[in-house]
Amino acid sequence: MSIIINGLSVEPPGDPRVSLLDHLRERLHLTGTKKGCNQGACGACTVLVDGERILSCLALAVQYDGRRITTVEGLAEDGVLHPLQAAFIEHDGFQCGYCTPGQICSAIGMAAEARRGVPSNVSADLSGEVRLDRDEIRERMSGNLCRCGAHNGIIDAIEATMGAAGARA
Ligand code: FES
Ligand code: FES
Repeated sequence: MSIIINGLSVEPPGDPRVSLLDHLRERLHLTGTKKGCNQGACGACTVLVDGERILSCLALAVQYDGRRITTVEGLAEDGVLHPLQAAFIEHDGFQCGYCTPGQICSAIGMAAEARRGVPSNVSADLSGEVRLDRDEIRERMSGNLCRCGAHNGIIDAIEATMGAAGARA
């Protein structure tokens, strides 16, 4: 059994009760992924599994045998930030930074959902075409809370990178 984390094959925990979040943070020391509520309410622990966003605090690590997991540590390539990471800096998308890794992973998964035509609660039609305007982004990112209130900068960064007018990533 092995889990692919940021391109590296790692052993799942021997204890099947260990959450994916605790496996990442406590055993693999990938502390970019944050523990906020530990009960699925804040989004701080969001990671990507085969490109889809999940809450790692609600997932058991042993469930992910053979799956590809990407954490915030796996987004930069050859020392170059992912365009969304750079946009968070450019648009002041953080203050303390605690929610930031989850926001960024969530936004990448969110954009993929939109490209697949998955509607949100504010989508005007269900035809399968999603225009990622500000309202769509706000709705789709509503599961990621920022206690510092940096939401305007966060949405600016996502809109500039992935929104209807941006689409750099
Ligand atoms: S720590 Fe997982 S949703 Fe809050
Ligand atoms: S930047 Fe502090 S919680 Fe979001």
